[in-house]
Amino acid sequence: MKLIRGIGELVGIVQEGVLRKQGNQMDEVVSLKDAYLTIEDGLIDDFGPMAECPVPSSEDEVVDADGGMVMPTFCDSHTHICYAGTREREFIDKINGLSYAEIAARGGGILNSADLLHRTSEDELFAQTMERVNEMMAKGTGAIEIKSGYGLTTEDELKMLRVIRRVKETSPAIIKATFLGAHAVGRAYYGRPDEYVDLVCKEMIPAVVSEGLADYVDVFCDEGFFTTEQTVRILEAGIANGLVPKIHANELACSGGVQVGVRYGALSVDHLERTTDAEIEVLKGKRTMPTMLPGSSFFLGLPYGKAKDFINSGLGVALASDYNPGSSPSGDMRFVMALGCIKMRLTPAQAFNACTLNSAYAMGVSDMAGSITKGKRANLIITRPVPSLAFLPYCHQTPFIREVII
Ligand code: NIG
Ligand code: FE
Repeated sequence: MKLIRGIGELVGIVQEGVLRKQGNQMDEVVSLKDAYLTIEDGLIDDFGPMAECPVPSSEDEVVDADGGMVMPTFCDSHTHICYAGTREREFIDKINGLSYAEIAARGGGILNSADLLHRTSEDELFAQTMERVNEMMAKGTGAIEIKSGYGLTTEDELKMLRVIRRVKETSPAIIKATFLGAHAVGRAYYGRPDEYVDLVCKEMIPAVVSEGLADYVDVFCDEGFFTTEQTVRILEAGIANGLVPKIHANELACSGGVQVGVRYGALSVDHLERTTDAEIEVLKGKRTMPTMLPGSSFFLGLPYGKAKDFINSGLGVALASDYNPGSSPSGDMRFVMALGCIKMRLTPAQAFNACTLNSAYAMGVSDMAGSITKGKRANLIITRPVPSLAFLPYCHQTPFIREVII
């Protein structure tokens, strides 16, 4: 047994079986002051008030939280961290006034990363990806969804997904893999998007599935990328091969991607920098988790998703980092939580739920992560003593993390 005692506040307690929070539930964060928690075989075994703390035996490992807060690690349900090199040239182009769409239209952006990835060995790509995973874990993230989508040929998409599988086998973090062959039209198919979609549906998806390399299928359904018709074809091919959809939608325009995602039972619809009442209406009562990525709004100067409107309509929202070289070169969920509060006007409780349980839901792991619940993975952050949960997004640049247990 591992015993954590002297916990100033144990935060994020959720009843077993609650897999997401919606509407008013997002305001609720249950905590216990002056607490202990025990871990058995990597799982949360028990917790309670210090007055009832078990007496450890000589074999038990004891950690003293010294009055710090203990909370579940963050879950990051949307990342593109399997990439080669960096793109700071485009960063400068953006400073000088080019938009994300303009850079992409000039053959930069995702295609630039695809060229770099093509020239990078599998071992090197693995090393670079693991470095990002380790950095994210040190910043408090315990579960990460990783997308392909910088391959854009069958061979290179498989290369990425094999690297992600290796990350899954190597890292103690919970990893989920998403096939995003439809991230951009591959260079060889320039001007022939429908033929590229054929390749995705008829060659890539069957190859990915036959090696068991992906949990989810995703499409960048947005202006200048893939249309709703093309998205439908890819989702149908993915579903026929046993993959659950996730969607990139409404980053550059109201694309119709949310509606398509919901119709096909997507686990999440992501980005949503732009949304109308129609998107909110269509999401009501559905399994799909609207997921917002304030790090890319921040980096690209885009509008922030209207998370409040979703919550006021009774929906849940998740927040994720979108960590990638083009629109969000950061996987720091502390910053994401702070942006949720500062820019999207979420309360600290809402932002906390969006970054933990709801983000776990959006990557299909909320039965094993995202809250303090008996039987879940003991993926935990121990903070230095902090006055309250609100301190975390408020003083987000203060290094409040003392230790991360994964
Ligand atoms: O989620 N929007 C599409 N894909 C990424 C950006 C990828 C890139 O620019 O490399 C995103 O923002
Ligand atoms: Fe993305």
